[in-house]
Parts: sequence; structure tokens; C-alpha cells
Amino acid sequence: MTALAPSAPPATTPDPACFSAIARERLPALLRRMPKAELHLHIEGTLEPELIFRLAARNGLSLPYPSVDTLRAAYAFTDLQSFLDVYYAAASVLREEADFFDMAWAYLERAAAQNVLCAEIFFDPQTHTARGVPFETVIRGLHHACQRAHAELGIEARLILCFLRHLSEDEAFATLEQALPWRHHFIGVGLDSSERGHPPEKFARVFARCRELGLHVVAHAGEEGPPAYIEAALDVLQVERIDHGVRCLESPDLVRRLAARRIPLTVCPLSNVKLRVFDSLARHNLPALLVAGLCVTVNSDDPAYFGGYLDQNLVETFAALPQLGAAEAYVLARNSFEASFAPAVLKAAWVAQLDALFQAFALGQG
Ligand code: ADE
Ligand code: ZN
Repeated sequence: MTALAPSAPPATTPDPACFSAIARERLPALLRRMPKAELHLHIEGTLEPELIFRLAARNGLSLPYPSVDTLRAAYAFTDLQSFLDVYYAAASVLREEADFFDMAWAYLERAAAQNVLCAEIFFDPQTHTARGVPFETVIRGLHHACQRAHAELGIEARLILCFLRHLSEDEAFATLEQALPWRHHFIGVGLDSSERGHPPEKFARVFARCRELGLHVVAHAGEEGPPAYIEAALDVLQVERIDHGVRCLESPDLVRRLAARRIPLTVCPLSNVKLRVFDSLARHNLPALLVAGLCVTVNSDDPAYFGGYLDQNLVETFAALPQLGAAEAYVLARNSFEASFAPAVLKAAWVAQLDALFQAFALGQG
């Protein structure tokens, strides 16, 4: 199988011969074992049906589904909006600080077991404050889980507050006000929810304020929306990463810009298939994004809804796309560290672990 030989930096540390020494049948093990960062994960999208039922019972709520299986069977989506309708409804079982903690802890335990060393986690406070849950309840529960995960699981977990783009900019400003007393519990802001009809320009002023506050800024763009939304996210919101961004390939000029500036794209393959951005994993444009020299990462988005966590995304995507081999696995993991907002010393330590693992696999010791 020919490797894609991505042309862009970073230069790979292991000798290229190391990649060809790793047999294709070892790829699933390599993908699972390799250290990695997850940069596009909505914590509300990790609510498994079993936990939804447990929290509903704990909070005395009834659900419109008789069982876990019937709820799971309802996860047949036709587009982003059809998913978001279910996702917001399910999040209504989250009421107490302990509920937010339990949800985040369940994700972090899974992530750590998959060798995720760094997780930059989105949360949607407006989904909860609109139901009367105080902002403080949400952030305390999530933050406690991140702190405990660092202490007990050795994972760096940080929060990114997402504004819901189907709501107004004034509502985003009100959320930012509520969040400011907790400024040190989150590292940045993002923009998610229904993309079409809600261009980045709608949030120009609130993102400018967030940048002034020293927050990192990212935005979903080019998932269902056109390349112009990616351009606006770069030019108007001045984001540091683009979440999804897969539609950038429709604009060669945009691809050149993204590659030259090494703007990371946090791509989510299983999500893209479930929400019908691509017909199948075999038709996903991940190989083309890599060949274009883009700083691509693989992520799970809403794993409880889309058929799997980060390892499942990697293993299934590599199985479906024979162009992807050990060299691409290395580049994706390395990009995930490069694209994270972690301090440089941590990134260097993680890359050293990555290099050591690939060398061990090349020597048949993996
Ligand atoms: N919120 C949760 N998942 C999302 C996605 N894939 N796109 C936009 N908003 C989201
Ligand atoms: Zn997302």
C-alpha cells in the first residue's frame, strides 16, 4: 500500500523506514496504543443512553422512550439539525452538579483508557441555563471531573465554552457575563449548533471580546456550511482552529491559506457519516486533506450518538481507507498535540512518547 507521504511540517522524528516496518495488520493496535489529544468533543455528546436513564431516574424525570434500546434506536439522523434536536432533548436530564460530574468523569475514564493524554472539551452552557440550571452548577461539575482526571488518570483535561449559534449574539454576551467569575475554569470559547443560516459574522463582537480577555477561540465551520463560513471564522472571528472544516477542499485558495498558516482542522469521521456529510467512511476526504498538507486531527465529536469514541473513529477510518497507514497515524497523533492549547513542554513530552511507541512497533515490540 502506498503511503500518502503528507508534505507538510512537522517533520517526522522517526525514520520513515520505521513506518514501512509496521505491518498493516498491526495498525488497529497501533492506533489504539498511540498517545493522542482529543480536541473536538462535546461533553453533552458523551451522554450514553444508560446514563440518560440513570440520571432521569435520579432526578425524577420521565423519558419519552420506554428503554435504553428504544432510545438508541432513535439515533437515525438525516442531517445536523435532526441530531441536534435529540441531543438537546437528552441533555435535559442534567440537573445537578453531580450529573455534570458523572457525565464528564465517564468520558474521561474512557478517554484515558484509549491513551488520550489531553482532552479539550466543549460544553454548551446555554442548553442548561435556558432550563434554569445555574451556570455555576454546570461548570463546577465539569471542572471537578477535569481536576480529578488529572490527579487520578494523568490526563490533561480543559474546558472550552461553546456559544450556540442558533441563538443571538446578545445571548452569547449574557452567557459570557455569567462565565466570567469562572474565567479560570475554561481555556477558550467555541461556536457550535446549527451552522447553516448562522454565519460566523453573527458573533464578531462577542469573539472580539473573548480574544481581548485572552481566551482561545475556535469555531465549527465547513461541516454543513460553505467554505465562506471557514473564511469568515478565520477573518472575522480570528479563530485558532476550525472544527470540522471538511468543506474547505471546495476552495483551493482557502486550502492554501489553511495549510500555510497551519490552522488545525478537527475532523470527526464517524460524525460526518452519521450526519450525512459523507456517504461512507470510504468516501471521506481525510486522505485528501492530508495530501493537501493541512494540519488535520481526528476526533469523536458526539461519541455516544455517532457510534464510537476516538479509537473507534481511528480504527474504522483507517480500515475503510487503504491510503492511510502508519505514517498517517503518526502525523494525525502528532498534529493533535501540535494543535492543542497545552504548554510547549507538555507537547514535547507527548511527542517523545509518540516517537518511542512508533519505534517500538517498528521493532516488533509494540
Ligand atoms: N453540537 C454538538 N455536536 C455538534 C456538531 N457536530 N456540529 C455542530 N454543533 C454540535
Ligand atoms: Zn462538534
